[in-house]
Amino acid sequence: MRTARAIIFDAYGTLLDVSGAMAAHAARIGPQWPRISVEWRAKQLEYSWVRSLTGPAHHEDFWLCTRDALDVVMHRHGLHDAGLKRDLLEAYRVLAAYPEVPAMLRALQAADIPSAILSNGSPWMLESAVAAAGIGDLLDAVLSVEELGVFKPDPRVYQLACRQFGVAAAEMIFVSSNTWDAQAAAHAGYQVVRINRDQAPDEYGLAAMLLAELPDLSSLPELAGI
Ligand code: LAC
Repeated sequence: MRTARAIIFDAYGTLLDVSGAMAAHAARIGPQWPRISVEWRAKQLEYSWVRSLTGPAHHEDFWLCTRDALDVVMHRHGLHDAGLKRDLLEAYRVLAAYPEVPAMLRALQAADIPSAILSNGSPWMLESAVAAAGIGDLLDAVLSVEELGVFKPDPRVYQLACRQFGVAAAEMIFVSSNTWDAQAAAHAGYQVVRINRDQAPDEYGLAAMLLAELPDLSSLPELAGI
């Protein structure tokens, strides 16, 4: 492996556990909450992709994609409860990081390897989640797509980290649990690590493009040569 000059992380689903919002209110949603949580995520991403394709005049930020997706999914499941909706959105604003994340970021920082988030999240969403997860001091930058008005996997998004660090994509590792994000990062020239917590199958022929596939983030410092 070439030495990584920086490590770039996807946020939602990679560092931040997106199932946490519905898990926090599981008793009010019912036993089907894990499926509804997956539907919420899928609808949120659908909205982001449709917004990107429709063009900049119709851009809305990731928070609105998240909120509108929740509306549709709650309606679909007969969850007509404005208080629950408010509480779920609040929980999404302060999502926890996966348990191994702080120690992993501390190891990168101790080894002087710069790290950043590159996410669809709007700047305030990311600021809020990073603060709630207690990882703000462990990251060198938190980069949002919002300044471009387009979402991943638009290729322009992946240039933001190159600009931030003044480093070519090939000299950085991009880490994502989202296969569609990982393949776009690979096409942008990054060394890509897929986090695959659920032993999900390969997609996009990604396996052939990866630097590594890991079950979680704990061994990432070792992979980066620390
Ligand atoms: C992100 C989403 C797509 O953080 O996971 O960019």
